[in-house]
Amino acid sequence: MANAPIPMIAGNWKMNLFHNDGHALANDIAEKMLGRVGPSVDVAICPPLTLTGSICAFLSATPLRVGAQDCSPLQTGAHTGDISAEMIANLGCACCIVGHSERRRDHGETNQVVHAKAESVQRTRMTAIICIGETEAERNAGKTLEVVTKQLQESVPEGSGSANAVIAYEPVWAIGTGRTPTNAEIAEVHQHIRDLLFEMFDYDGYAIRILYGGSVNEKNANEILRVPHVNGALVGGASLKADTFWQIIEAVPKPSEVSAPVRVKA
Ligand code: PGA
Repeated sequence: MANAPIPMIAGNWKMNLFHNDGHALANDIAEKMLGRVGPSVDVAICPPLTLTGSICAFLSATPLRVGAQDCSPLQTGAHTGDISAEMIANLGCACCIVGHSERRRDHGETNQVVHAKAESVQRTRMTAIICIGETEAERNAGKTLEVVTKQLQESVPEGSGSANAVIAYEPVWAIGTGRTPTNAEIAEVHQHIRDLLFEMFDYDGYAIRILYGGSVNEKNANEILRVPHVNGALVGGASLKADTFWQIIEAVPKPSEVSAPVRVKA
């Protein structure tokens, strides 16, 4: 059995928090991290871009990483209002979310756009957190695995690997709703994603982290984080309070509690 990847808990603040509250939250989480003993876990917060630069600056000496929520697929030039991955990396970010369902919905982002954004993130040596997930109608029509397969194959760049890509499986109907799939449903999709990653990236596909996202909170984190091939969580609402976010981080299982059977390629 191969070593399971180090889990990751990422907080997606979305379009929330002004300067003082954002800084206080980042500071609280960083302080808790500095005093933490327990299984190793990578923790990142993704504030709105208005706070990213200043939060990166004061967190630079802490283990808490900072990420962005989106970037342009383009590098530079006449693109009013857009921010390149290079600019985000230059602030000190370690990762950037791409393809979140809210961007796919609100800005018509296709798998091809998400692919281009992920590539631009990886070009800067940041990690791309690439989001995929089915809508409720797609799940009800029995199309979950089909939808997730297409999103994964079309959104994840060829040059991806465990060093520069994290997959976030976020069923659209679970985001911000307080509803989550059953553990068996999460397990089915994560196993499927793992098999696809193995096909696409060989054994490194086992080291690529697959996060679950969608209404993760301090009450359900314990169970969800123990589902096979769940290597962490992308957390929205519950990442806006230091206490709840911290309880989710503390729910990360010890490596000995994680079961992630590895298949051998025929
Ligand atoms: P939620 O959001 O935890 O508030 O459901 C998750 C996300 O959108 O990443």
